[in-house]
Amino acid sequence: MKLTMTTALLFVLLFANNASAVESTTPEVQQSIALEFSTDRIEKGKKMYKQLCLRCHGPEMNGGNNAFDLRIFPLDQRERFFNSVMNGKRAMPPWKGVLSEEEIGNLWAYVGTRGGTLQR
Ligand code: HEC
Repeated sequence: MKLTMTTALLFVLLFANNASAVESTTPEVQQSIALEFSTDRIEKGKKMYKQLCLRCHGPEMNGGNNAFDLRIFPLDQRERFFNSVMNGKRAMPPWKGVLSEEEIGNLWAYVGTRGGTLQR
């Protein structure tokens, strides 16, 4: 638990170190990123990932059966993540009506921290 919190904070630091992000990042935004990637959300995202996404994206998020390698999904493209998951993309079905925005946010926390590890 403690480790995951540290990882979330590390991410915030990494994000803040990204030059282009720094200009538009306020303490409030950083705070919301920390909340968005809370341990709780990562844990919930993990369960959902296993139930819904693993069969295509694989246990390691590496893209498994010809799906996207989620370990390299750009962390500064939150909108794109929500869009693709809501509306689907080519062989991926849309999850609109199945998942709430809150639930997609949990998945984003899981994918955005690379399964709570940040390893790529
Ligand atoms: C039926 C198989 C399948 C399932 C289930 C599935 N995906 Fe995908 N997903 C794909 C494929 C295939 C692609 C690559 C689409 C393309 O670009 O051709 C993809 C792409 C993506 C992308 C990248 C989209 C982009 O913008 O390039 C994201 C993010 C993603 N999936 C997230 C998820 C999440 C989160 C779940 C679980 C809710 C999930 N996927 C479940 C097959 C699947």
